[in-house]
Amino acid sequence: VIRIALPKGRNLEPVLGALAAGGLDLSSFDPGKLRQELVAGVELLLLKDWDLPLYVEQGIADVGFVGTDVLAELGADLLQPARLAAGHCRMCLIGTAAELPREGEQVRVATKYPAWSKRLLADRPWGVELVTLSGSVELGPLLQLADLAVDIVQTGRTLREHGLVEIAELAEIAPCVVMGKASFHHHRGELLELLERLDEAGVLS
Ligand code: PRP
Repeated sequence: VIRIALPKGRNLEPVLGALAAGGLDLSSFDPGKLRQELVAGVELLLLKDWDLPLYVEQGIADVGFVGTDVLAELGADLLQPARLAAGHCRMCLIGTAAELPREGEQVRVATKYPAWSKRLLADRPWGVELVTLSGSVELGPLLQLADLAVDIVQTGRTLREHGLVEIAELAEIAPCVVMGKASFHHHRGELLELLERLDEAGVLS
């Protein structure tokens, strides 16, 4: 049995689209079930994005799909053989005005991604104090909890709705295929076949 870990968040739709394009029969897929046998030999796990790397690292899931944002923040020790063509978005510095901080200025930056933000904002000519939030990061600069925020922008709708602007793009983000090293050795044939089918379907980038 191959166990595939799917992320519950923003990447679920592009991942399901990619798997369907790759020939997996999803007609029995139930988004309300955390664990389900899809077809004979294929079991799906529906996991919180932030927990998914751990399940794959531990070999509980053989293969998973998760955003490179989560991988960058967690620093997971996983094989990352491919990225999907769909579901791309970007990590941005956002604020109430399209202005970078002045040289020497000290700014507070709200984010759900403190470790990655620290790396992304290193070597700036201004100082950063990170404020770690677990969601609704846009409210940080809006309510002056922070001066700026580092957050995901996809369609730009959230920014527009809150009167915020993108000051700078810091990184591109994509849904990524992840495999544990031990699982890869154990299920090499099936996992390579899955990758090949995704590749042939043109859903990898
Ligand atoms: C992200 C981000 C924004 C939104 C941006 O949240 O925090 O709220 O998506 O997307 P948009 O540009 O298409 O409006 P996400 O959905 O990842 O979940 P979260 O609210 O848990 O952070």
